[in-house]
Amino acid sequence: MKQKVDLIVHSARQLLTLGEVEVPSALSISPSCPRRGEAMNELGLIEDGAVAVSRGLVTLVGTTEEVLAQTEAEEMIDASNRVVMPGFVDPHTHLVFAGSREDEFESRLRGTTYMEIMAAGGGIMSTVRATRVATLPQLIAQSRGRLDRMLAHGTTTAEAKSGYGLNVDDELKMLEAIRQLDATHPVDLVPTFLGAHAVPVEFKGRADEYVEVVINEMLPLTERELRENASGASAPSVPFFCDVFCEEGVFSVSQSRRILERARELGFGLKVHADEFEPLGGTSLAVELGAVSADHLVCTPVDEIEALAGSDTIAVSLPGTPFGLGHHEYTPARQIIEAGGALALATDLNPGTCYCESMQIIIALACRYMRLTPAEAIAATTLNAAHALGLGDRVGSLETGKKADILVLDIPNYRHLGYHFGVNLVERVIKSGQVLYRNSGK
Ligand code: NIG
Ligand code: FE
Repeated sequence: MKQKVDLIVHSARQLLTLGEVEVPSALSISPSCPRRGEAMNELGLIEDGAVAVSRGLVTLVGTTEEVLAQTEAEEMIDASNRVVMPGFVDPHTHLVFAGSREDEFESRLRGTTYMEIMAAGGGIMSTVRATRVATLPQLIAQSRGRLDRMLAHGTTTAEAKSGYGLNVDDELKMLEAIRQLDATHPVDLVPTFLGAHAVPVEFKGRADEYVEVVINEMLPLTERELRENASGASAPSVPFFCDVFCEEGVFSVSQSRRILERARELGFGLKVHADEFEPLGGTSLAVELGAVSADHLVCTPVDEIEALAGSDTIAVSLPGTPFGLGHHEYTPARQIIEAGGALALATDLNPGTCYCESMQIIIALACRYMRLTPAEAIAATTLNAAHALGLGDRVGSLETGKKADILVLDIPNYRHLGYHFGVNLVERVIKSGQVLYRNSGK
């Protein structure tokens, strides 16, 4: 008797499971851990592969012959000549914002730097002004378009940060926008409170006072909201994070430490924007505090790379950001991988430094400018990215019991991810077992 399931995706030329694999060194690579070192090249590839899905979860993975011998379904998707893989997880986005900043893009092309624009009251503060005047429905409507494009390009789970409100009411408004988008859009969102994204103009020259507001007012209020939502209808509960922009002229290491220590006491998972422009010590701080991730890592000193690599903190690299800024320095990803660090990739989608929804572009950049192999880039955008959100046990690989978040790509082999760029390679996106996007051109 065959087991009846809801959906079978079969005959994939290459099925990338990212699942547990035996490697020649006899070390078993477990999905409960991120991939490190040479293991980042292990994609758990099955030729002529198939996935069976029931109630939104993966029930069986194997060769088409194995899966069809054990299961049957009314809905069958023939993935001949296609690559099938887990949905992308984007672990660092500023998805929710109002307005746009193409004027600053042009100023930068003419020679003004990102930090000069910020010091003159533009940059993040420009988006803060637009976000503060936007109503909740306006904020949701603008952000929903971006979320639709993320899904169409294969992202099935993403992180979304606050950080363009910078006062209690507008930070809560942003987190509410994230909550409503998560509830009404198929892409799963993980919320991050980023009240320490910039010192707002009303606190100019009084950064320490703003840090007190973050610690004493914003953190307790946002924690209450986020905890309520996390343990609400959606079981199992979703983690929530606190992040700080630790940067010269923004928040110092000691200010960042105070905010993150308080957040940790309140039960937030921690993230740090570290070493984007100046090496202040944000990466060491992230490691010391047991942060789930340290993000950006463009100018991270060697000793901090070593410390990061020896820790459980995931290194989240955002190559769309230097690219978006027209810079030439990228995360030293090869050093991180060779030191044994767990590397993930994300878009950093935001209106200032990287207006990009597509993880496929990020893979193309990571291969060229950070010398990742396509396989490493795939591990970094799926399993390792899931671990950067504390969701490594639920998404990021195609294994029994995990969410059936599956991409069917119209490419002959996985190396075309990275190699072939600038067009959408996704043919179908399956989210929790449902086909939610079909590229009509395919
Ligand atoms: O990750 N670095 C800080 N935050 C964003 C940029 C946000 C903005 O410019 O609006 C980043 O690059
Ligand atoms: Fe960011």
